Amino acid sequence: MCSFEFPLMQAITRIGVLTVSDRASRGEYEDLGGPTICEYLQKTLAPEWIREYQVVSDDRQLIASSLRKMADELHCCLIITTGGTGPALRDVTPEATEDVCKKMMPGFGELMRKVSLEKVPTAILSRQTAGIRGSCLIVNLPGQPKAIRECLDAVMPAIPYCIDLIGGPRLETNPEQIVAFRPKSK
Ligand code: MTE
Repeated sequence: MCSFEFPLMQAITRIGVLTVSDRASRGEYEDLGGPTICEYLQKTLAPEWIREYQVVSDDRQLIASSLRKMADELHCCLIITTGGTGPALRDVTPEATEDVCKKMMPGFGELMRKVSLEKVPTAILSRQTAGIRGSCLIVNLPGQPKAIRECLDAVMPAIPYCIDLIGGPRLETNPEQIVAFRPKSK
């Protein structure tokens, strides 16, 4: 890498989308979760951002290393994962998220389960959480596209201010979709 590329890379807002699924990673199943997140972000965020998209199997170390790469090398300010949050033996996305985060943000999981429980009783089966690694916020979502949209609608208004507070870029939202909440003095 040329020395002048590094600051350029940091100047662009990058968002990571990580699908966690054994079957999608083997190509046995079309990944629907990752594209659903990308489509949602495309509609919701103002245009100046680049996505970093990856599909990995339900392997704790692999998930953790993808999260580290997206946060530390690709300088993503936000990583959204989908899948692997449930109670099944292979579901380890929240554990991998905890492995790489210095600070956990349990309110994200609490709010997403609260709104999801109004739609489906099995929402309590998701152990989805969120945490901070450096200047990157990592948020877990379940795998179902419908669940992804419901959860993002709930947490998206708080995400831009969270990223402000951890020293990330200022994210602007499309107010017709989501109004980002920033305390008035900010
Ligand atoms: N949340 C919402 N909003 N809608 C859903 O359909 N499905 C639940 C839960 N959360 C669901 C939801 C189910 S059935 C499971 S098993 C868990 O998310 C975990 O899903 P995952 O393993 O795909 O992450």
